[in-house]
Amino acid sequence: MVDTKIYTILSREILDSRGNPTVETTVILNSGYRGMAAVPSGASVGKYEAVELRDNDEKRYGGKGVTKAVANVTSIIAQKLHGMDVLDQESIDKTMSALDGTPNKGNLGANSILSVSLASAVAAANSQTQPLYRYLNSLANHGNVTPMVKIPTPMFNVINGGKHGGGNLDFQEYHIIPASNKSFSDALRLGAELYHSVKNLLIHRGAIHSTGDEGGFAPNLSTNKDPLEILSETIRSSNYRLGEDVFFGLDVAATSFKNESGYLIKDRPVAFRTNDFIEYIKDLHKIYRLLILEDPLGEDDWDGWVQITKELGNDMLIVGDDLLTTNPERLTRAVTNHACSAILLKPNQIGTLTELISVVNIAKKNDIKCIVSHRSGETNDTFIADLAVAVQSDYVKFGAPARGERIAKYNRLLQIEKELFGKN
Ligand code: PGA
Ligand code: ZN
Repeated sequence: MVDTKIYTILSREILDSRGNPTVETTVILNSGYRGMAAVPSGASVGKYEAVELRDNDEKRYGGKGVTKAVANVTSIIAQKLHGMDVLDQESIDKTMSALDGTPNKGNLGANSILSVSLASAVAAANSQTQPLYRYLNSLANHGNVTPMVKIPTPMFNVINGGKHGGGNLDFQEYHIIPASNKSFSDALRLGAELYHSVKNLLIHRGAIHSTGDEGGFAPNLSTNKDPLEILSETIRSSNYRLGEDVFFGLDVAATSFKNESGYLIKDRPVAFRTNDFIEYIKDLHKIYRLLILEDPLGEDDWDGWVQITKELGNDMLIVGDDLLTTNPERLTRAVTNHACSAILLKPNQIGTLTELISVVNIAKKNDIKCIVSHRSGETNDTFIADLAVAVQSDYVKFGAPARGERIAKYNRLLQIEKELFGKN
């Protein structure tokens, strides 16, 4: 029998893909098996997310240092978890939440807690000499491995605006989404081929084709509809067919441009009231046929969410990100009110693996579709690729098919596809 008790926990401050500090933690077992995990960081952070603990010492990294979070891992958390069985993920996570003592992990920091939570799962999988996705699958299903029949469909964020782009677009992400009957490797190829075609089209038009935080292009354009026109043109001139091989998705990230008077975007000088903004999106849908629509309204505009789901929910997935923040109470409220039909799953919004799995279970029980997602600030950690396969999420959102920290995750899905289905 392998000794799966925690011997020690190491942690350090590393940099994420934006060059900001984040936490990387290693859990080491008595048997010598170990697991490492690094946590990501968002830019368009929802008000209801668990707290990311920063040093706020302006003399280091502009206040973004995480030495306090690292110290919380190596002193407080490590001491408490010493000797605990890493196979008991729930106890580990509950112990950390209790140690923190706040509803939003504001005391020890969700970044410190999550790093230990994920690293523990990696150490556990290694100790059982199991691929991480298989171990996580059994963890999510009370010890039984359930069939993993598909690699989730990727959503490629090929044009970046909002807080992620250096251009002038208000909407945060413009996605191309391969048809879900394609194999993952074919879907990835489609994404990469069209990504390069988008670049060529932007160059041809003399538009800016530098990239944003998630690898998509960040052009200056006249309206928030223009990127969809560019993507339509790109697909028309390719071998792929819009509405058959590939579809459109948007992360509007509407909280980022909502003010007291409503939703203010460059398409018109006056802010849209909720009703008008829903009409605007319906018009967009009439032309471009959206498959996925994320955060079309602000994180507190519950009535608007109920209305838009009623009006467009049969046609497309209405996805809650800032609305739900991977939080079981907020998801339950959304289910009760029919406020959306899909959830973005970001481990660092809630702070432990156990809680994330409970959110997945609530979603599945209520026919809410699941999208496992990266953050705009990422590392090369590929945990979420294994997680997405393990919980058999419907989609994954890992950014453009470009930039090392995004590609690491797509390449990990290629590996898993080969292992599970013998095919690439
Ligand atoms: P974030 O963006 O990581 O900056 O929050 C991702 C998203 O909004 O989906
Ligand atoms: Zn989002």
